[in-house]
Amino acid sequence: MITLERSDLARNEFSFDGQAVPFEQGMTLASALILNGIKSVRKTRREGKDRGPFCMMGSCYDCLVTVNGEPGVQACQVEAQQGLVVESTPAEPRLGFKEL
Ligand code: FES
Repeated sequence: MITLERSDLARNEFSFDGQAVPFEQGMTLASALILNGIKSVRKTRREGKDRGPFCMMGSCYDCLVTVNGEPGVQACQVEAQQGLVVESTPAEPRLGFKEL
């Protein structure tokens, strides 16, 4: 098992809902969030339950976040970059459609 301490990480950071998230080059947003103890990145539409990265390979869509204002980004498919502004997806997404 690989164990990284926060002090092992480079000084690269992005923000998640205003919280600084340090990461090492080559990590995805999802892996950096998990490493930093952030397990929930979105809420379900109907019941508002927590969801977070699960498959880590682009299949489950439980890792959807907003990156620099762009909603619906799969956190497990995007490499972390210095200064990105990442936001969780609320129960009512900002996708411009209404639930029937
Ligand atoms: S963790 Fe499943 S799509 Fe990203």
